[in-house]
Amino acid sequence: MADVAIAYVVGARPNFVKTAPVVRALRHRLPDARHLVINTGQHYDPEMAEIFFEELELPAPAYELGVGSGAHGAQTAKALERIEEVLLAERPAAVLVPGDVNSTLAGALAAAKLGIPVGHIESGLRSFDRTMPEEINRLLTDQLSEWLFTHSPEALVNLEREGIPAGRVHLVGNTMIDTLHAIRPRVEHSDVHARLGVEPGSYCLVTLHRPALVDGPLLPRALAALERLAATLPVVFPMHPRTRARLGAALPTAPGLTITGPIGYVDFLALELRARCVVTDSGGVQEETTSLGVPCFTLRANPERPVTITQGTNRLLGLAPEEIDRVPALLAEAEGRPAPPQPEGWDGHAAERLADVLVRDLARRAGA
Ligand code: UD1
Ligand code: UDP
Repeated sequence: MADVAIAYVVGARPNFVKTAPVVRALRHRLPDARHLVINTGQHYDPEMAEIFFEELELPAPAYELGVGSGAHGAQTAKALERIEEVLLAERPAAVLVPGDVNSTLAGALAAAKLGIPVGHIESGLRSFDRTMPEEINRLLTDQLSEWLFTHSPEALVNLEREGIPAGRVHLVGNTMIDTLHAIRPRVEHSDVHARLGVEPGSYCLVTLHRPALVDGPLLPRALAALERLAATLPVVFPMHPRTRARLGAALPTAPGLTITGPIGYVDFLALELRARCVVTDSGGVQEETTSLGVPCFTLRANPERPVTITQGTNRLLGLAPEEIDRVPALLAEAEGRPAPPQPEGWDGHAAERLADVLVRDLARRAGA
């Protein structure tokens, strides 16, 4: 497959984590192919993007599209236009898109319209809430995809309901957890706790960035609840730039509350691993805490990752900031429980299974 190219469209922080092991596995299986990472630039601050390329050993992007921030239509349209130009020039045999961000949909749409088959990494998740931009991106990306790579069995049920033929769906497992396994030895060397002045095992780690929570009146209520929590349990809150932008100049200060900017993957994983618990609205963090066995409390109305609740350490608080007040009591309950078994395929080898499916199908197509 010497003249073959595989393209990987990435752009936002969780994309890098999900895609790095897939590029590695496909490079191993197709060493003569060209592996083209196309970075839309949806995220662009060094600690939201560049640091992940370094830490996860993602190949340097063959294309930097510089899309940046913008309204949904404008951001998706810019990415669509620029990805299409690249695909026309490169004509890859397949385009892989991870997750559910605007760059994901743009990559899938650009490829599908050119007749280039699309593989969706982390297919089939559904919150059943179309007010979430991610839900629209997931639904459309799955409709456009030839290979739907899922990380948990409920995805198959969701996809069947939408009329997707079962032959396109491949339960390969969770590539984000592959990255966690690969990086974990480096986490032991992180000095992030000393730098932040927090005691390992003593604190609640917080991330919040969903529009439903941070773009309106719930954000000040969440911050007030975190200040109350910090009086009994230290709180470490690496703040997403969206949340920081919504807060404006005023950063809350309270004893026990440590607020930082976004943190690189190795240090963030060290913070997750040694947290007493996590409060989040992040999709990826719900999965990582399940893998690490750390109690997680999720501020969401409609979770699209129920497996982290049924087979993991996740507990839903709802879209209700005052529920944070219950965290100390809920944590006391959670700490007494035995660790649940890991979801199937969250074993560090999902990308290898994905690559096996893709390589087999590409060889079949080339021979056909
Ligand atoms: C996006 C995804 C979301 C994902 C999240 C991961 C969509 C619709 N949303 O949300 O699903 O969970 O990424 O983190 O694709 N900003 C910066 N610097 C950056 C990036 C963003 O300052 O490097 C700020 C800008 O003010 C920007 C805002 O964050 O307007 C939102 O960025 P955007 O990429 O539109 O959405 P996210 O909230 O990051
Ligand atoms: N993450 C990180 N630094 C941070 C916050 C998160 O490296 O300061 C990682 C986290 O470990 C996970 C991914 O970013 O791998 C999750 O991304 P995010 O929460 O932004 O998006 P979501 O998963 O909600 O789409």
